[in-house]
Amino acid sequence: MRRPSIEIRGFQVFETYLDHADQAELLEVLRGVVREAPLFSPMTPYGKPMRVQMTSAGRYGWYSGKTGYRYERQHPNGTNWPAIPQIVLAIWRDLVSPERMPDCCLIIFYDEGARMGLHQDRDEADFSWPVLSISLGDDALFRIGNQARGGSTESIWLRSGDVVVMGGAARLTYHGVDRIKPASSALLNKGGRINLTCRVVD
Ligand code: SIN
Ligand code: MN
Repeated sequence: MRRPSIEIRGFQVFETYLDHADQAELLEVLRGVVREAPLFSPMTPYGKPMRVQMTSAGRYGWYSGKTGYRYERQHPNGTNWPAIPQIVLAIWRDLVSPERMPDCCLIIFYDEGARMGLHQDRDEADFSWPVLSISLGDDALFRIGNQARGGSTESIWLRSGDVVVMGGAARLTYHGVDRIKPASSALLNKGGRINLTCRVVD
């Protein structure tokens, strides 16, 4: 069993799990996914567009609209989401389980001013499955809180190729991204950061 290089509040961080060649390969595969399922800026339930752009692969895609957060079977353009890339499933098999594959791989693009407020991932049916997160591109200051809102937090920089497993007691821990460090990675031609999160949904 692989061991995380950092463990912080139950978040297991596998630094540089993907080397540069793997990162470039994954990026190329994601370009194909985004051609099929273009990035969009979902509306928050409060009626403002989110600061990040996103899309999904898998049986379900994560969606946010006037009626709240939910999983949808189709992209807003009415087509099915593309399949989760094999290279992503291989990471899930290695770090989470070969027994059950994720239903959704949420793909989030952060431009240099984008951030994500502290939140829990709780739109899934079974919290015994971890969420697996993969980072590509610019560094992100990732903040980790507690299982309830408020209290102290700790932050770490997530870098291109880092993979995080959020499971066990940490599955419902508040987390978010304070900021991106522009031009900290040369992986994406125009800069920015991509985060993938794989989830078992139903
Ligand atoms: C998320 O919590 O959905 C994204 C986390 C990240 O961008 O690292
Ligand atoms: Mn999350």
